[in-house]
Amino acid sequence: MYSNIQKLKDFFLKKKSDLESFYPGINWKRLESEWEVFVLRYSDNARVSNFINLLERATPLEYITGVAYFYKAEFLVDSNTLIPRSETETLVELALKEINKEMRIADIGTGSGCIPLSIAMDAKFPLDIVATDISTSALNTAKKNSFRLEYTRNKKTKLEWVCTDRLKDVKGKFSLIVSNPPYIKEGADRKLVHEQVHNYEPHTALYLKDDDYDHWFSELFKTVYSSLEPRGVFIMEGHEEHLNNLAPLAEQFGLKDVKILPDLTGSHRFLRGIKLEG
Ligand SMILES: C[S@@+](CC[C@H](N)C(=O)[O-])C[C@H]1O[C@@H](n2cnc3c(N)ncnc32)[C@H](O)[C@@H]1O
Repeated sequence: MYSNIQKLKDFFLKKKSDLESFYPGINWKRLESEWEVFVLRYSDNARVSNFINLLERATPLEYITGVAYFYKAEFLVDSNTLIPRSETETLVELALKEINKEMRIADIGTGSGCIPLSIAMDAKFPLDIVATDISTSALNTAKKNSFRLEYTRNKKTKLEWVCTDRLKDVKGKFSLIVSNPPYIKEGADRKLVHEQVHNYEPHTALYLKDDDYDHWFSELFKTVYSSLEPRGVFIMEGHEEHLNNLAPLAEQFGLKDVKILPDLTGSHRFLRGIKLEG
C-alpha cells in the first residue's frame, strides 16, 4: 500500500531543491515531524494531498500546522498573526529581568499573544497585563492561546485583550511596557523581506509606510511616555537599520537613558528607555 508517509517522502525527494529555497534548512526529518503535528491537529481531516498542496504553494510550515513554538510553549497561529520569531524571545527575557514585584504591564501589538503569555509564564509575581492589537482577528487567536496556557501562570495574574491603536483609550499607568511593533519600511526595506514572509504574513504586522515611519514611532513614544509610571520601563523590538535613528526620537518624547540592545546574533534589535519624572 502507498502510505501517506511514503507519498510525502517521494514528494520531498522530487521537490527537494524547490522546498529548500522556500523553507531554509528543511530536511526529511523536519518535514516528517511537521506532518505528524498536522495529523495530530487536524486528525480526521489531515489529508496528505492537502499538506503537499500547501507546501507546493510555499505556505509557511507554521500556518500549515497552525502552531508555532516560542519561548517555552506552543502557540496557535494563523494568517492573521505574525509567526513569532526567535529574536522576540530575548525581548521576553529582557522584560522578565524588570519584574521584581507585582506589576501592571502593557504589550502593544500582541499578535498571537506570545510575549505577554510567555512573560506571565515565568514571572515570579502575579501581573496585571493589558495586551493590545489593531486586529480583532489576531486578538481572537491570542485569547485562544491565553486559554490554552492558563495553567502556566500564577492564578492571580490578570490578562486583558484590547483592540485599539497602540494604547489609545487604555486607562491607567504601567510599570513596564513592551512592544514588538511593525517595523519594516514598506518601500526601502522590501527587498530584504523573504517572499514567503511577504506573501503570507499579515502586512499590518510587518510594514509601516516609509514616509509615516518616524511619525508612527513618535506617536508610539508619546503614548508610551504618558502611560508609564515614574521609573517605568519601555522595551521595544525594532529594525536593526532604524533603531539608532529612533533612539533620539524616543528621548525627544521624554524617555531617558535610552539604549539600543543586541539580539543573539549581535544585531541592534531592542530599544530600552525609562521615564524618570512623574
Ligand atoms: C510584528 S507583529 C508582533 C506580533 C507579536 N507581538 C509577536 O511578537 O509575534 C506587530 C503586531 O502589531 C499589530 N499592530 C499593527 N499596528 C498596530 C497599531 N497601530 N496598534 C496596535 N497594534 C498594531 C499587528 O496587528 C501585529 O499583530
